[in-house]
Amino acid sequence: MKLFLDTANLEQIKQGVKWGVSGVTTNPTLVAAEGVGDYKTLVRAICDIVPGEVSAEVTVEGAAAMIAQGREIAAWHDNVVVKVPCTPDGFEVASQLGNDGIKVNMTLCFSASQALLAALCGAYFISPFMGRLDDIGQDGLDLLAEIVDIYDKGSLETRVLAASVRHPGHVLQAASLGAYAATIPFKVLEQLARHPLTDSGNARFLADWHGRAAKKA
Ligand code: G3P
Repeated sequence: MKLFLDTANLEQIKQGVKWGVSGVTTNPTLVAAEGVGDYKTLVRAICDIVPGEVSAEVTVEGAAAMIAQGREIAAWHDNVVVKVPCTPDGFEVASQLGNDGIKVNMTLCFSASQALLAALCGAYFISPFMGRLDDIGQDGLDLLAEIVDIYDKGSLETRVLAASVRHPGHVLQAASLGAYAATIPFKVLEQLARHPLTDSGNARFLADWHGRAAKKA
């Protein structure tokens, strides 16, 4: 399984790559959080840092406008995947962009039926939102499991990208279900790396080592 960072922050992405991150997902909220700079320039800068796919979302409404913007975004860099929402227009856009040979990430997926349609429209990624389902008292894990099962049984090639990840448990659940990747906030990446017993054990090892060096001197 791969880890992607769900951020548009270049410093976080640089650090994430050093910790094994191979792709990035952005959305309009995350891009807006980085300020008022040029969208294309920011996405290209991200592509220059990470080795794998970088999702950039359309920011317009209506199938025709989304298709036109999707084609434009796809031309920004070879690693760009165009993100479109799981809406009626979005499915039409995914089909058209797919026919053009453009990779599409269908986002804001909250049901297995949306995931099925996304696959039949030729989407490259489906992004089920685990955390936002948990937030409304449903189980994001159930949705992820259902999608993985439907794709496996139907030999559907769309890759499952677990999204709206809130904690390390979500990442491990996605991994054990066989998701292609999880896209995670930087805070969750840091949580994956740390354990208090590792920190205290390491501090003890180093203190003992330096004590030994002091005794020798
Ligand atoms: O990029 C989409 C998704 O991961 C958003 O997550 O935390 O805003 O629900 P969140």
